[in-house]
Amino acid sequence: MLRIAINGYGRIGRSVLRALYEGDYRDQIKVVAINEPSDIDTMAYLTRYDTTHGRFPRPVSVSEQHLQIGEDLIPCFHAHHANDVDWSALNLDMLLECSGSFSERAGAEDFIAAGVPRVLMSQPASADVDATIVYGYNQSQIEQQHTVVSSASCTTNCVIPVLDVMQALCGVEHGTTQTVHSAMNDQPVIDAYHTKDLRLTRAALSSVIPVDTGLDRGITRLMPELSGKIGCSAMRVPTLNVSVIDMVLRTSRPVTVDEVNTALQDAAADKYAGLMGFTQEAHASVDFNHDPRSVIIDGTQTQVIDGRLVKLLCWFDNEWGYANRMLDVAKHWQRVLNT
Ligand SMILES: NC(=O)c1ccc[n+]([C@@H]2O[C@H](COP(=O)([O-])OP(=O)(O)OC[C@H]3O[C@@H](n4cnc5c(N)ncnc54)[C@H](OP(=O)(O)O)[C@@H]3O)[C@@H](O)[C@H]2O)c1
Repeated sequence: MLRIAINGYGRIGRSVLRALYEGDYRDQIKVVAINEPSDIDTMAYLTRYDTTHGRFPRPVSVSEQHLQIGEDLIPCFHAHHANDVDWSALNLDMLLECSGSFSERAGAEDFIAAGVPRVLMSQPASADVDATIVYGYNQSQIEQQHTVVSSASCTTNCVIPVLDVMQALCGVEHGTTQTVHSAMNDQPVIDAYHTKDLRLTRAALSSVIPVDTGLDRGITRLMPELSGKIGCSAMRVPTLNVSVIDMVLRTSRPVTVDEVNTALQDAAADKYAGLMGFTQEAHASVDFNHDPRSVIIDGTQTQVIDGRLVKLLCWFDNEWGYANRMLDVAKHWQRVLNT
């Protein structure tokens, strides 16, 4: 049994806990602690009711400083700093860092110094982590002695399987990605101050807002052969969840729409089964809400211009897909430790 703690109980932290209860994981993974600055009653309330994913599938209540889910009692802490919790008393295997507050390896090391044996980060993090994993593509890189691993980003998890298939099919010379991402909690509902980014001062509900993305760095880390060859940009749009990446690739040899769609459909049924989807139906983003896959190719939108310019549309549930991948990486890491 893998014993995990969740640090940061926001969109991703709550999705991780819920994915564990909705999925087939409870006999393999036990959440032994949650750390979140908010109070326990609000944590329970936001577990029970979720505007995006609906009601929690089990009874949720509070018992002293524990979140009670069915028969399970999960101790909760409300610390801001790693060493404010006695992690060593919890006999943990792994901490899932889902707060977004620790983007450097040094931040993860603070948890290790405070008694956490391993940290799995919910963002790309600094380049000095032991491994950056897109589950399905490179989880074999996790080694027993690793202590800080990143689950990359939701956009990297979406793009890498597609680039992998396209590289194998026809070679990728260069390209661009445009992420159209649903709103996030770093945006205000109406205009408000933000310390680092002027664009994140603007009301999330009123605008399409260009934002920074680290996807090009993610691609470089996972597929160094494409370093500097894929330009990436992103914008936030006023939806609650589900995002899409519009990818344009210059290929090494001419291809057809049929060839590209067949290769992606085959990968969805084989190498990336359960992680990649392929559809030819007429979809809107909401159709992919609560979809656990990393990427779903919309085959109706595939275009090939003049033989070597391929345009692809790739949907993903940025919350639910990513939370499920974090659990996949955590389970894989545990298997590596047990071998
Ligand atoms: N949302 C997505 O679609 C998505 C997808 C993939 C990856 N990610 C990544 O996952 C991370 C979290 O994103 P999110 O969307 O879940 O953000 P979120 O909804 O804002 O959740 C973050 C939670 O962590 C808490 N927190 C802040 N500092 C903390 C600390 N020092 N210790 C413990 N908890 C702390 C926050 O509390 P306060 O609000 O009080 O600060 C908040 O409740 C980010 O790195 C993000 O890039 C997000």
